Amino acid sequence: MKKVGVVMAKGGAGKSTLVRHLAVAAHQEDFATVVLDTDPQGTLQDWAERRNGQEPHVVTEYSTNPDRIAKAFERIEAAGADLLVVDTQGQHSPIATNAAMRCDLVLIPMKPTPEDLKAVPATIDMLRLHKIPHHVVLSQCPWNTPRPKAEAYSLLNKLKVPVWMGAIHLKDAIPSSWIAGETVLELEGLSRAEEKSVEEFRSLWTWVRRELGLKASQPVSQ
Ligand SMILES: Nc1ncnc2c1ncn2[C@@H]1O[C@H](COP(=O)(O)OP(=O)(O)OP(=O)(O)O)[C@@H](O)[C@H]1O
Ligand SMILES: [Mg+2]
Repeated sequence: MKKVGVVMAKGGAGKSTLVRHLAVAAHQEDFATVVLDTDPQGTLQDWAERRNGQEPHVVTEYSTNPDRIAKAFERIEAAGADLLVVDTQGQHSPIATNAAMRCDLVLIPMKPTPEDLKAVPATIDMLRLHKIPHHVVLSQCPWNTPRPKAEAYSLLNKLKVPVWMGAIHLKDAIPSSWIAGETVLELEGLSRAEEKSVEEFRSLWTWVRRELGLKASQPVSQ
């Protein structure tokens, strides 16, 4: 089982959004995918309740006890998952660190804003300390100006932080899809502009899949 964590010690950066879209993208390619919600806010548990049992399933583990997190990973792997996608809370927490330490790859969503840029180094320091492979993913980028994105890339490059070369832009359909218990990957009747969001999430998943060494539509169960 491959494990992807989504971590950023700041609220509202786009963690839960990335988790649900990556999990659905993987599920749509026939990978047996499970979401682990470790954020006591329960954003993805609430989302799952709106899905009426549709896969990918969401499992919760809010304990700060590292053994409980480890056991949750083991249970999910033993149940035959190919991929685990882990949501974490938006602050420094032993839960997020314990989950990240067990992941093959950690994504750090970040809005191209000074506030999010300020929050990134502490998250990166934790990941570097534990030698966890990681990449920043620019999230909630405005469509009408490239400047915030360009400035964020430039600052992240100065900090020598690896960054996914795509970006996720702002789109109203993203919060509405949470309310519907879906993702933009599952909505019907999308406009051309909304389809660009779908392309962004699919492109991110394809990149993640390759980073994890998984072949398209050939799930592994080891
Ligand atoms: N690309 C986007 N376009 C529009 N809205 C977005 C986008 N990404 C996220 N959002 C919205 O921004 C809000 C915060 O996103 P999300 O819940 O994913 O952040 P988070 O990092 O998980 O926050 P928290 O730290 O509180 O758990 C949500 O309402 C979400 O629907
Ligand atoms: Mg969240």
